[in-house]
Amino acid sequence: MSEALEPVRFENGALHYLDQRLLPAEIRYEPAQTCEEIVAAISSLAVRGAPCIGVFAAYGIAVLRSRESDEKAFATAAERVRSARPTAVNLAWAVDRVLASEDMLAEALAIHAEQRSIDAAIGENGISLFAKGARVLTHCNTGPLATAGYGTALGVLIAAQRAGLAPHAIVDETRPLLQGARLTYLECLRAGIDATLQVDAAAAIAMARGQIDAVIVGADRIARNGDTANKIGTYNLAILAAYHNIPFYVAAPRSTFDFSIASGAEIPIEERAAAEVASFGGHFVAPQEATVFNPAFDVTPGHLVAAFVTEYGVLRPPYDESIAGLAGRPHWSAMPPRASSSR
Ligand code: MRU
Repeated sequence: MSEALEPVRFENGALHYLDQRLLPAEIRYEPAQTCEEIVAAISSLAVRGAPCIGVFAAYGIAVLRSRESDEKAFATAAERVRSARPTAVNLAWAVDRVLASEDMLAEALAIHAEQRSIDAAIGENGISLFAKGARVLTHCNTGPLATAGYGTALGVLIAAQRAGLAPHAIVDETRPLLQGARLTYLECLRAGIDATLQVDAAAAIAMARGQIDAVIVGADRIARNGDTANKIGTYNLAILAAYHNIPFYVAAPRSTFDFSIASGAEIPIEERAAAEVASFGGHFVAPQEATVFNPAFDVTPGHLVAAFVTEYGVLRPPYDESIAGLAGRPHWSAMPPRASSSR
């Protein structure tokens, strides 16, 4: 149980990933050296979480560059990695950043190192949002497994736990692939965070009974007006939180903001295989011919978000102004170090 759950490893010139589909039952690392292996790891959700797929793809591009001398073949492979999943903007952002660099491996290592320091700053910036013992609902998985750093939304709760605030995490199981039950609960155990697991549909009764003080989630893409794409079911939570007068927070790095889009209407929403919903544990639980709607993400309108926690600080409405301010901030590596460990 003490082995660190690093979702991505780059050692001795070789890229490996932790197959998150097997967690919590099994810790298994697999190599990713070819375009097929890299794309399959991302699209199957063996490697998942917006910042983590960015870090993994960055290494993947560097590996492909070292193995492929034909420019056309390399460009085709890079584009396949870039478009392995459509919603999280971190993937294209990281691939473009590596492709534009002089030394692709050095850039991938920098992206990974920056993610750790960015996550540390998000955690530090977010803890002021919660009182001691706060009961905080979270959805999907946003811890170290999702970022290859320390986490975003769950990273805030981990930072709060380290600061002695003893938060209580309410963990949505997160249908259909159970990232909450399988991954977030595991990360809470490892971080020593008191946690309660519930089905996604229990959020309303938990809020109505006064069992939730705040909601914090991550994001896959955030538009200039604060509209936020995140795991399917997030929008439901934001509406429920507004109805029950509970603050709804989003924690995400600057790389998750897509400054090129005005609203969430421009965010492509990934739709996944019917079998993810119609079957469970390898067995069909619905008639095999069932017609299924399986969007992996939804978009929460920005006006339902009380604040965004970023590495640069906490953003409040009006978001067209505060997000424009974020767009103008200097690159993270150029930021002066803070007094503490992060910036
Ligand atoms: O389909 P997934 O598991 O990649 O979805 C992940 C999420 O929706 C996370 O909340 C988001 O990527 C933020 S990760 C810090």
